[in-house]
Amino acid sequence: MEREKWGTNIGFILAALGSAIGLGNIWRYSYMVYENGGGAFLIPYWIATLVLGVPLMILEFSMGHRFKASAPKAFASVSRRWEWVGWWAVIFVMYGIVLYYIVIISWVFNYLIASFNLGWGGEPVNFLKQLVGADLDPWKTVFMVRPLTILGLALIWFLNWFIVYRGVEKGIEFANKIIIPLLVVLTLVLVVWSVNLPGAKEGLKFYLKPDWSRLKDLGVWIAAATQIFFSLSLGFGIMIAYASYLPEDAPLITNAFATSLGNGLYSFIAGFAVFSTLGYMAFKQGVPVPEVVEQGFGLAFVAYPKAISLLPFPHIAKVLFALLFFFILFIAGLSSSISIIEAFTSALMDKFKIPRKTSVTALAVTGFVGSLVFATRPGFAWMDIVDHFLNNYGLAVVALLEAIVVGYIFKIVIMLKLKDSRDYFRLVEEFHIGTIWDFLYTLLVPAVMAYLVFSSLTRDVTSVYGNYPLPAVLILGWGWVIATLIAAFVVSSRPWKGKI
Ligand code: TRP
Repeated sequence: MEREKWGTNIGFILAALGSAIGLGNIWRYSYMVYENGGGAFLIPYWIATLVLGVPLMILEFSMGHRFKASAPKAFASVSRRWEWVGWWAVIFVMYGIVLYYIVIISWVFNYLIASFNLGWGGEPVNFLKQLVGADLDPWKTVFMVRPLTILGLALIWFLNWFIVYRGVEKGIEFANKIIIPLLVVLTLVLVVWSVNLPGAKEGLKFYLKPDWSRLKDLGVWIAAATQIFFSLSLGFGIMIAYASYLPEDAPLITNAFATSLGNGLYSFIAGFAVFSTLGYMAFKQGVPVPEVVEQGFGLAFVAYPKAISLLPFPHIAKVLFALLFFFILFIAGLSSSISIIEAFTSALMDKFKIPRKTSVTALAVTGFVGSLVFATRPGFAWMDIVDHFLNNYGLAVVALLEAIVVGYIFKIVIMLKLKDSRDYFRLVEEFHIGTIWDFLYTLLVPAVMAYLVFSSLTRDVTSVYGNYPLPAVLILGWGWVIATLIAAFVVSSRPWKGKI
């Protein structure tokens, strides 16, 4: 069967942006900026975008495009021995990251509904507790699942199923052609509205003024690098699958720049809305900006709704403001979550020739059931643990291996197979984009990635992550990483239906 194709190149860019721009750009980005010293974070963030983001984006686009394949098939095309890397990426994102990511979208959905009457009252903390349960104790009340969260989950999995079921052009491209322009317009409205609030200036000063001394802190750089992976959906197997539906003559480099810079720019602009609003809250409560948020993770769910309740507007305008914010988060999250379902589906279609519709249905159903794990009361704590381990090991290791497999192994395999060096250069052309990029992804990117993995590893073996009970960290953190790794080896050992 002929491989599906995007309708237009712009459609592809919008879909790639749809995957990149997500909860990560607003919820995670703002609290990363907040926790890492405001303006100080912006410098490592942009450096990481250019030095890690762009080259890896070019690499992933090239892999998908060159092999016309999902991540596992792209790796298997270099060498069967490396196929597991592709499976591991799609498996841990599908049965790890997305399970809790959709739970967070479900909270957003609940906030969206509550926005109509500002239902969190003056106490968004209670509303969040109602959604996530009061316990940060990972073992307590495991079987208490929140009905409101489940309702949201069912809706979001249904939307995901519906969009991906319709296919690349009619489903994903179509949805993103609506979502991305809408997202940009609504975000600009929110920004213009927010920067005019009293006190906004103080918030923006905190957001934009670099505190150079923080740059000595290695933690800030690591946070920026992990944020870039998560935000650009790199190491997820997603960009490889998306690029596999491009036509022969697609402008890969332009597309990679458009996606990486567009994603950074979106975060940067959305930050104006968030920090102006925090500035307003600081002004209203008479405290300095660095003190208005009690806990970073809760920024979008506690501090922000609280600020909305305090806005100097009539009720109806506050309702609109709240709807705007949570609707933006909702559609941003949706266009990201569909991308991993597509990445997994294309992997199953490539390897086992499972039809799209069967695969999408199976993924949506198992995904829904899996998400229930994080909709339990201790799900909040579990999410934190799984997020830490999958982001630090999964994404980083996959990116490291991508650079090594393509930068070295691919070239060696090809060289051994081909007698004529001209053929070699024709084949590696797509991975050989000028000396600077070659240097970045054969030397700098692997070195930085190896360092990141190594430093996370030393930290995580010497101390228990986040003061959670050890068994929780062993099972949910290490356990999840190892279980998905085993699954990846098992799947990759199965024979291919058809040729690679
Ligand atoms: N890049 C997204 C963000 O910044 C995250 C993301 C993309 C994602 N695709 C995903 C998360 C699939 C989970 C599953 O929010």
